[in-house]
Amino acid sequence: MRLLVTGGLGFIGSNFIRHWISQHSKDQITNLDKVTYAANPDNLTDLDSNSNYRFIKGDICDQSVVDQLMSNIDLVVNFAAETHVDRSIDDPLLFVKTNVLGTYTLLKSALKHKIKHFHHISTDEVYGTIDHETKDEFSETTPFDPTSPYAAYKASADHFALSFFKTYDLPLTITNCSNNYGPYQNPEKFIPRVITNLLTNKKIPIYGKGENLRDWLYVDDHCRAIETVIEHGKVGETYCIGGLKEACRNIDIVKKILKIMGKSENLIKYVTDRPAHDNYRVSWKKIKEDLAWEPQESLDSGLEKTIDWYQKNQDWWKKAKIEAENFYQKLDNYKNLK
Ligand code: NAD
Ligand code: TYD
Repeated sequence: MRLLVTGGLGFIGSNFIRHWISQHSKDQITNLDKVTYAANPDNLTDLDSNSNYRFIKGDICDQSVVDQLMSNIDLVVNFAAETHVDRSIDDPLLFVKTNVLGTYTLLKSALKHKIKHFHHISTDEVYGTIDHETKDEFSETTPFDPTSPYAAYKASADHFALSFFKTYDLPLTITNCSNNYGPYQNPEKFIPRVITNLLTNKKIPIYGKGENLRDWLYVDDHCRAIETVIEHGKVGETYCIGGLKEACRNIDIVKKILKIMGKSENLIKYVTDRPAHDNYRVSWKKIKEDLAWEPQESLDSGLEKTIDWYQKNQDWWKKAKIEAENFYQKLDNYKNLK
């Protein structure tokens, strides 16, 4: 099979390509990535000598590049996106192009080239927020109610994707996954930010009271879930993916990391909350019952592996860490001016 993977130099995309090649060594993968600040060209250097893998630097919004690549492809897996909620609050316009127009460009080209399967990667954030006090959880039938600009653009892309199935019969599946963590995640995101702050003797900024809820999934489990949906999912269907039985408060995650790393809770610093800060809890009953997928990694073992990876790969994250902390500094200055 010939795959076009977009955004494959980012966190989940690079883990997915490595996973797919390990399971399907004869398949050919083309990785189309614009190499934004979020990408790291070193993520897949281990595949440089693999003749079944090739990297193309390019933009999913560029119709001519997309058309050229799509002409020899069976399966598209679309990861490419701007992905950081805080950046979407700071500069919402940046997200429209890639997350909406980019997905549309891919869908249009996939239809033109009669692609056998288009898999679109999305997030549980499209569903909005759950009530903190109840046991409500998102599922595939929850109406979209996005809060942040990031979630709004992802929701828009999901709607476009489904419309291409309903209107033009494009064979398509979608997965809406909860928060991922694991190796190769940009240190702007919560878990790697906490770990890398501790490794550089900085305090840990917790938004608000640290009570916001997230479901966390180890990235390898997400990659297996995507593979399961591609191989066994029903065309036209959406599958929610999550990792926990009980959603976790941010403060609980931080305490777990502090404990594993043998650090003091005095390092916690409560900071101004994110505007319209959501809570997420997602049911992954459908993918478990219909496709027999379930996570293999526990939160504790996944965090241990992740901490170990960031400890051993400081050269990988040092540059991105400076860039991320500069962004947060700019955001703080902006907040103080308001
Ligand atoms: P990431 O920010 O680490 O990587 C995104 C990648 O997309 C980067 O390599 C970047 O260079 C590339 N990219 C951005 N704009 C592009 C464009 N116009 N053309 C081509 N490439 C472009 O993101 P991630 O965390 O790996 O997320 C991947 C996908 O999974 C996204 O669609 C995201 O919405 C979704 N998702 C992420 C999470 C999570 O917790 N990280 C959870 C659920 C869903
Ligand atoms: P993040 O990794 O940005 O993912 P998302 O907002 O898409 O879920 O943040 C995860 C949670 O952690 C979210 O509730 C915000 C919170 N958070 C902090 O408390 N401190 C931080 O420094 C960051 C980056 C996030």
